[in-house]
Amino acid sequence: MANIDWNKLTFSYTKTNTILKTTFKDGAWTPVESLTDDYLSLSSYAGALHYAIECFEGLKAFRGKDGRIRLFRPEENAKRLIRSAQYLGIEAPSVEMFVDICKKAVLENEDFLPPYEVSGASLYLRPTLIGSNPQLGVQSSKESTFLLLCSPVGAYVGGALDAVDVVIARNYDRAAPNGSGAFKVGGNYACSLRSLNIAHEQGYKAVLYLDPATKTHIDEFNSSNFFAIKGNSYITPKSDSILPSITNMSLETVAAHLGMTVERRPVPVEELSTFEEVGECGTAVVITPVHKLVDKPFLESDEETVYTYGDGQCGPKSLKLYNYIKAIQRGEIEDEFGWIVYVD
Ligand code: PLP
Ligand code: COI
Repeated sequence: MANIDWNKLTFSYTKTNTILKTTFKDGAWTPVESLTDDYLSLSSYAGALHYAIECFEGLKAFRGKDGRIRLFRPEENAKRLIRSAQYLGIEAPSVEMFVDICKKAVLENEDFLPPYEVSGASLYLRPTLIGSNPQLGVQSSKESTFLLLCSPVGAYVGGALDAVDVVIARNYDRAAPNGSGAFKVGGNYACSLRSLNIAHEQGYKAVLYLDPATKTHIDEFNSSNFFAIKGNSYITPKSDSILPSITNMSLETVAAHLGMTVERRPVPVEELSTFEEVGECGTAVVITPVHKLVDKPFLESDEETVYTYGDGQCGPKSLKLYNYIKAIQRGEIEDEFGWIVYVD
């Protein structure tokens, strides 16, 4: 096992044993290589570097209570990568190839898989697909390179379940109407950085974007989906400009299973004052409860409307959902929805 203080892990880079790499060229994928060096040899003319021909995924591997290694719904990540790649017009690995490479990466980097006892930690996998052939004109890359990176991680911000303050920045968007918001392309994250940097300077942990066409409905956060609890309902936005989150999809299933009503529908901003609990959800953030949600017409100005949820702790319904999903991932309860793929 690697010499790591598992309890002190944050969501950051740790060098692991290997990165797996395969390239699609001349109509086929090259044999998967295990690279021990993190630095790539890549043409300076690669489309990824000029025209952001890049998409990626994020999923986690967990050590279960029984000692077995589990991946959470990797086929869904594979399918989403294929959709993102189609959007960019580049070749992606098949679902089967994607899952096999995820398993191989986990086995080669098992030293970095946190032990079961450290409940907030996991091995984060970062499948990455880039347009890699030399090119100058704006066109989809003919050659694409698939990389499987991994790093042991803890909570995305603070400790697991620490509540955060977030801000709606009405004068910024992460994606355009009819744009790339529903695809996991690097360009979306580049477009969120300016507003995110300003928000961070003001002490907010995340930016919540509104629907870019009308600015009347909630879309999603810069790196996670939005959900809210009202009475016995789990409410989450329906929008063409948000990423279809695998965590959110799973929480909807769990919420329904626990007898809650699931409402996936447009969520008007006015409804924020009626929610009892609000949170971020996603692979990296898992469930991160929101304490203060601040709505600013201009991120740079002092004018604001503040919504407060709970007392800075995770609300009871969010906590129940969090515990349920973590218990499946960590092999503490039966995988009744068939979400787990075993690595060993
Ligand atoms: N929305 C955005 C913008 C994200 O970056 C992520 C992270 O992957 C999510 C939502 C959550 O998606 P998932 O639950 O599939 O990780
Ligand atoms: C994930 O949750 O896996 C993500 O990809 C979010 C990331 C931008 C940190």
